Amino acid sequence: MTRWEEWLATESAAREAAGLRRTLRPRPAEGATTDLAGNDYLGLSRDPAVMEAAAAAARRWGAGAGASRLVTGTLELHAQLERELAAYLGQPAALVFSTGYHANLAVVAALGGRDALVVSDAHVHASLVDAVRLSKSHVAVVPHGDVAAVEAALAADDRRALVLAESVYSVLGDEAPLVALAETCAAYDALLVVDEAHGLGVRGPGLVRELGLAGHPHVLVTATLSKALGSQGGAVLGPQSVVDHLVNRARPFIFDTGLAPASAAAALEALRQLRERPELSDLVRRRMSDLAAALGVAPSAGAVLSVPMPSPQAAVAAQAAALAQGVTVGCFRPPSVPDGISRLRVTINAGIPDADWARASAVLGQVVKEFETGP
Ligand SMILES: Cc1ncc(COP(=O)(O)O)c(C=O)c1O
Repeated sequence: MTRWEEWLATESAAREAAGLRRTLRPRPAEGATTDLAGNDYLGLSRDPAVMEAAAAAARRWGAGAGASRLVTGTLELHAQLERELAAYLGQPAALVFSTGYHANLAVVAALGGRDALVVSDAHVHASLVDAVRLSKSHVAVVPHGDVAAVEAALAADDRRALVLAESVYSVLGDEAPLVALAETCAAYDALLVVDEAHGLGVRGPGLVRELGLAGHPHVLVTATLSKALGSQGGAVLGPQSVVDHLVNRARPFIFDTGLAPASAAAALEALRQLRERPELSDLVRRRMSDLAAALGVAPSAGAVLSVPMPSPQAAVAAQAAALAQGVTVGCFRPPSVPDGISRLRVTINAGIPDADWARASAVLGQVVKEFETGP
């Protein structure tokens, strides 16, 4: 064995022993199960017009953007998407990225730095955690949803500060206290970065706009095109001065190939659907509250229901029982849960036909009842 093979085998054995081994499970194109684990909340990734827009863009522009954005990889399609995203979210300007992960890396790395402070909610997504590391900023991680702790961190340090939150949190599905956070940021001249990954689409143009915070001088937005918009890619939205700074300084933007034309066009068409079919987000919200009531859990601010389980074993067994009846749900166990509680993560998808939705809801109701008290 080479030194590397030995190291890999030790790493793999350690994960296996801890019950943490991850594996990939390729799924067929035609769904064998009802998917209540994905993030295609509005079902737009399979919408005929969205798929056709992607195919037509690939024919017209090619399969890839062909270069990074500052070389020849900025297409008119990107410019149109940036204008339409900014208009929908009520922001002055937008910049699109090849993933939401890149958008988060870029904004924090380019605005943070050794002379900056980042105050981060304890539940933010891994991409924001990695972004803080990349930025080399001073960091204060504060308890989840705790505005007083954010204020204390800002009061204790007068560096230029960013505050990180998600509008709807990805695992628990709860909502950040955005208005209070924005007020606190304004009081300390800090910048609030709100990741709308799970708010955009499910809550129309997102919570920042819904709460009247779009265009607020102390609020920036990041978003992904790969959840409710059913495509792939990410965006940062805010003042033109921030977009210009990212174009000049954000390495995850500068040294990455532009968003693929098919993805840009699919996101544009999905945006059009959002504008013209508000009933899609109404359906998601209705299904979410019905299912939350049926499962006896708190309703979500978005389309993510968090179903606490009594143990990691119960969570795994419940997930397997649902799958055996044709329903896929997510299963989160320590250490991948922000609060140490094992849970099923159940997501709503407006694209599932009514009859399949009713069957999947009934399966979940029965499974949760069976496992919520054991084993
Ligand atoms: C809150 C949050 N932000 C960012 C991302 C990253 O987005 P993308 O999958 O487009 O890279 C995700 C996706 O998992 C997410 O849940």
